[in-house]
Amino acid sequence: MSDEILSSIYTFSKKFADPNTNLSFEEKNNNISAVVRNGNVNISLNIVGTDTEKYTDISRLLKKNVEQIPGVLSVNVLLTSENNKDQNTNRFKIDSKNIIAIASGKGGVGKSTFAVNLAVALKTIGKEVGLLDADIYGPSIPRMMGISGRPQGNENKKLIPLESYGIKCMSIGFLVNVDTPTIWRGPMVMKALEQMFNGVEWGSLDYLIIDLPPGTGDAQLSLAQNSKISGSIIVSTPQDVALIDARKGINMFKRVDVDVLGLVENMSYFICENCNEKHYIFSKDGGKNEADKFQIPFLGSIPINKQLRIQSDNGKPSCIDDPESEISNIYLSIAKNLTASLEN
Ligand SMILES: Nc1ncnc2c1ncn2[C@@H]1O[C@H](COP(=O)(O)OP(=O)(O)O)[C@@H](O)[C@H]1O
Ligand SMILES: [Mg+2]
Repeated sequence: MSDEILSSIYTFSKKFADPNTNLSFEEKNNNISAVVRNGNVNISLNIVGTDTEKYTDISRLLKKNVEQIPGVLSVNVLLTSENNKDQNTNRFKIDSKNIIAIASGKGGVGKSTFAVNLAVALKTIGKEVGLLDADIYGPSIPRMMGISGRPQGNENKKLIPLESYGIKCMSIGFLVNVDTPTIWRGPMVMKALEQMFNGVEWGSLDYLIIDLPPGTGDAQLSLAQNSKISGSIIVSTPQDVALIDARKGINMFKRVDVDVLGLVENMSYFICENCNEKHYIFSKDGGKNEADKFQIPFLGSIPINKQLRIQSDNGKPSCIDDPESEISNIYLSIAKNLTASLEN
């Protein structure tokens, strides 16, 4: 439903041309972005130049048109300018040389498992690492890193992250009861995210790994726009239903000018203990082909592995529990390739 609304929005918006650049406000124009969540629409238009009035007219017409789309409950059109954009980029501040967002179109594809193991692999090669669980709808970092408890405040009224395996961790799961369903409204989500950036004593980091909520909603967009993300990594399983959603993720990051550092294929194959052969349960090479199609780096394939699942459940990431295993080596090589490309 949201997708249909989104495409109707762009059908309207592309009829308008940017008063300054004369480019149509079509989907691939970076100066417009639209997000739909449960029928609530947020559109942002970036003002180029100083003729604000013309943009205000467009935003009014756009709002009127979009309100007519079936299924739309509310429409909010926000005008931004390059200056505002700079301010936004600084809204979420962290002293980290690199910030990497781990994203997926779908839930359950192994995004958190990857985030945790990448964080541990980076730590193993000597980096100072923070892990921010921004998946406010399903925080799993506490469980996967084997930590619980409430972060204490310090004299600056900032929360001290909980540490596990030498990694500083912050999760909404530390602040609210994980078993209680929490209903988050848009502004609360932003507030919570901002709190986890600015309200936490992260210290100075080489890498901050962010486990994003699945999908391409406003939490993801807001993070991408308000923080200095070095890039995103998309995690997907190799079958079409997951890849279709992964594609949306790639497009979202492209639209907000965040580099896609690459795609990781998870649950790529299963090695049978009896016959020792690889079985491609979710189809073969789907992730690799998708990465090629989008001309983004393919970072690696991670097999389906029972041990990996058990390690996650027990709060002992693969790279800690069994650092010599084949899977740990895959995570390590991904971490090494990433640092090589980001630090050169
Ligand atoms: N390669 C894998 N092999 C086996 N189990 C996996 C693998 N990747 C993830 N899992 C398991 O699948 C479940 C979902 O993974 P998770 O990382 O929580 O996904 P997401 O964060 O995308 O929702 C977890 O129980 C996790 O342990
Ligand atoms: Mg998760």
